[in-house]
Amino acid sequence: MNFVNETEKQAYYIAKCKEIISNREKELGRKLKACVATFGCQMNFKDSEKLIGILNEIGYEETEDEHADLVLYNTCTVRENANLKIYGRLGYLSKLKKENSNMIIGLCGCMMQEEHVVEKIKKSYKFVDLIFGTHNIFKLAELLYERLSGQKSVIDIWQGTTEIVEDLPSERKYSFKSGVNIMYGCNNFCSYCIVPYVRGRERSRKPEDIINEIKKLVSEGVVEIMLLGQNVNSYGKTLENPMTFAQLLQEIEKIDGLKRVRFMTSHPKDLSDELIDVMAHSKKICKQMHLPLQSGSDRLLKIMNRHYDKQHYLEIVDKLRKAIPDIGISTDIIVGFPGETEEDFNETLDVVKKVQYDSAFTFIYSKRSGTPAAEMENQVPQDVVKDRFDRLLKVVNEISSKKTAKYEGTTQLVMAEEVNSHDPELITGRLSNNTVVHFKGTKDLIGQELKVKLLKAKGFYYFGEIEA
Ligand code: 5AD
Ligand code: SF4
Repeated sequence: MNFVNETEKQAYYIAKCKEIISNREKELGRKLKACVATFGCQMNFKDSEKLIGILNEIGYEETEDEHADLVLYNTCTVRENANLKIYGRLGYLSKLKKENSNMIIGLCGCMMQEEHVVEKIKKSYKFVDLIFGTHNIFKLAELLYERLSGQKSVIDIWQGTTEIVEDLPSERKYSFKSGVNIMYGCNNFCSYCIVPYVRGRERSRKPEDIINEIKKLVSEGVVEIMLLGQNVNSYGKTLENPMTFAQLLQEIEKIDGLKRVRFMTSHPKDLSDELIDVMAHSKKICKQMHLPLQSGSDRLLKIMNRHYDKQHYLEIVDKLRKAIPDIGISTDIIVGFPGETEEDFNETLDVVKKVQYDSAFTFIYSKRSGTPAAEMENQVPQDVVKDRFDRLLKVVNEISSKKTAKYEGTTQLVMAEEVNSHDPELITGRLSNNTVVHFKGTKDLIGQELKVKLLKAKGFYYFGEIEA
């Protein structure tokens, strides 16, 4: 068969799968169900929306229950516990497959880009039907067709790609907000991180493709977008006509009907004054910056290959706060990187106290094979790491509850996001700075920006009341 492009080719395989699934439906007298479970970061969640979009087109009914006809795990491997979780859940799936021998089990995402993982699955988890990686998720229908046509186990892992396949089906989780990829991959090779090995080299999407996608989303009712990339600050460098992230944001700002724009993740080494200026003058870009610190120690930052030092980081924070006084700043911190001394750790604590983060994600260093840090001999003993981690968490939590309380008693614009999962009388929403607010309301408010009085701060969130 000859196809004009990859999108058309996949449309062909979607139609072929659809035929098979429709026949199976008739045999069984019921719809077939597919469960896509996502692990890890926003990138994976976005990829899963594409996977679910394809499965829906094929005719599967989406379910969160793993008692399904197709179960697909979109995996993460950034830390070892993400990895272990998958093996545990696969044990459970093997039992389910014994009850339903037609069940198809698929694995995709970051973990599958590691050779030793695929080898282990081929050897010890033979019941897995379908394995693919991060570079070829657009091929789901084609690979599934091979499996449905009788091939026993279908494995397709690419080592890299320069290709970006546009216009795939996608199923949004939220009606009013959506993630939008602006770039894929990462070129930074921080010495602890496996992402560049499993997500490949940095590739920016063309600005016109991004803008068209957002315009389409807005026409479907989306009012808030999250621009996604491992290092959004280096957007545009690989384009035929290079453009900066700040320039892209200015184009996005012009889209009528769009109310809020967020982005993640920003690498401090590439955060420009131009970006700060654009944010300060924007009506739509949320007052929020996720700025991973990783460590406050200059010595460790060098070994981590981060290309900034403590002073430079603090200067950026200073500039951000001056230009955008009520900006919410969050971060990622790793504790127990090889060779981390008490002095190094104190430098991290010092930055945390100086910056006064609104929130911080703290991680215990996890050895990822294939990364330079995994080869370093001076790994820190677990008990020392745990002690530092607990001390850091205490400081981080104290600061963030103090920061959250800052707006108590004021009225702020809150985007209503969803019905509260614990109390259906409450709606959960977010301030521009990303703080969560719960308030009495009904689901028709979802997607609206409302004036809410922040009555009481409770640690990391508020209870509020809609202002008449
Ligand atoms: N160990 C612990 N944390 C890590 N991260 C990335 N790699 C590792 C690792 N090997 C953290 C970083 C990054 C976040 C997404 O995950 O803090 O910013
Ligand atoms: Fe990993 Fe560093 Fe790339 Fe982030 S910037 S994905 S931490 S290598």
